[in-house]
Amino acid sequence: MKKVTNYFKTAALAIALLASSAAYAVTGAPVQGSANLKGKALMDKSDCNACHQLEVKVVGPAFKDIAKKYKTDKTALTKLPEKIIKGGAGSWGDIPMAPHPQISKADATEMVKYILSLAPAGAATKPAAKKS
Ligand code: HEC
Repeated sequence: MKKVTNYFKTAALAIALLASSAAYAVTGAPVQGSANLKGKALMDKSDCNACHQLEVKVVGPAFKDIAKKYKTDKTALTKLPEKIIKGGAGSWGDIPMAPHPQISKADATEMVKYILSLAPAGAATKPAAKKS
C-alpha cells in the first residue's frame, strides 16, 4: 500500500505545481508588483484597451513599445501621466491620444508605472529622442 500512497502524493504535488504555474501565466510578467497591478486595474476600468494592446500597435502604440521607449527616460513619470490626461499626438505619429480629463494625476501615474513595468528586462533601450 505504501507505493500507492506515494503515487497519490506525487500526483497531488504535480497538480499543485500545475495549478500554480497556470495562475502565474494568468497574472503575467513576474516584474509586476502590487503597485503596478493597481495601474493595470485602473486601465482595465478605463478605455485604454480600445486603442492599446500589450504587444501590438492598434490605434495607439503597444504598451510594451511605450515601456521600451521610456524605460530610461527619467521624465516619463511626470510627462506620460500628463499626456494621458490631456491627450495629444506627436510622440508616435499623427494620430492623437484621446484626452482623459476624468482621470486623476495619481491614477494616471499608477497607469504609467504599470506600463513602464512591461519593459523586457535588460532590453537594449535608448533614451527617447523627443523631449517635447
Ligand atoms: C482613442 C484612442 C486611445 C485611447 C482610448 C487611449 N490611447 Fe493612449 N495613445 C493613443 C495614441 C494614438 C497614442 C500615440 C500618441 C502620440 O503619437 O503622441 C497614444 C499614446 C499613449 C502613451 C505614450 C504617450 C507618449 O507621449 O509617448 C501612453 C503612456 C498611453 N497612450 C497610455 C494610455 C492610457 C493609460 C489610456 C487609458 C487611460 C490610453 N492611452 C487610452 C491612443 C489612445
